[in-house]
Amino acid sequence: MLVLPLIGFSNETPTSMNEGIFSKDQAKSGKRLYKKHCQSCHEGSYFKPVLLAWRGESLSSLFKLITAAMPENDPGALEQDQYTDILAHILYISGYARGENKLDPATLSDITIDKPVAK
Ligand code: HEC
Repeated sequence: MLVLPLIGFSNETPTSMNEGIFSKDQAKSGKRLYKKHCQSCHEGSYFKPVLLAWRGESLSSLFKLITAAMPENDPGALEQDQYTDILAHILYISGYARGENKLDPATLSDITIDKPVAK
């Protein structure tokens, strides 16, 4: 039997992007914020290919980039919660399923970016 050392490792199984990692309310809130802070530069269709290009990376890396560099004309201007809601909206319009639980920024490093599964 193989005994894995758990100390210092997360024993959480990696979460898939397709498990419903954000909630409906969160995506709704994100839609409003997105209109206000992102839409002037990005069409909604911008993000699907971006997410595909980021496949295999952790969702926290993309989130860090967004929080540090966007909106490009005022980087880092929003609250962490606002960025999180915007990320939920971006995932929703890019074809990922909504779920019951809110996306929590603390768990993003356990999530690997993958393709949306067609329903
Ligand atoms: C003033 C214009 C502007 C605004 C507002 C803006 N962005 Fe951007 N964004 C850019 C530019 C320019 C780039 C880099 C060029 C490109 O890849 O199209 C970019 C790139 C990105 C990328 C791709 C990063 C990558 O390297 O793959 C993401 C994701 C992104 N923006 C998210 C957002 C989000 C979320 C918001 C709102 C909080 C936002 N942007 C607001 C101009 C803007």
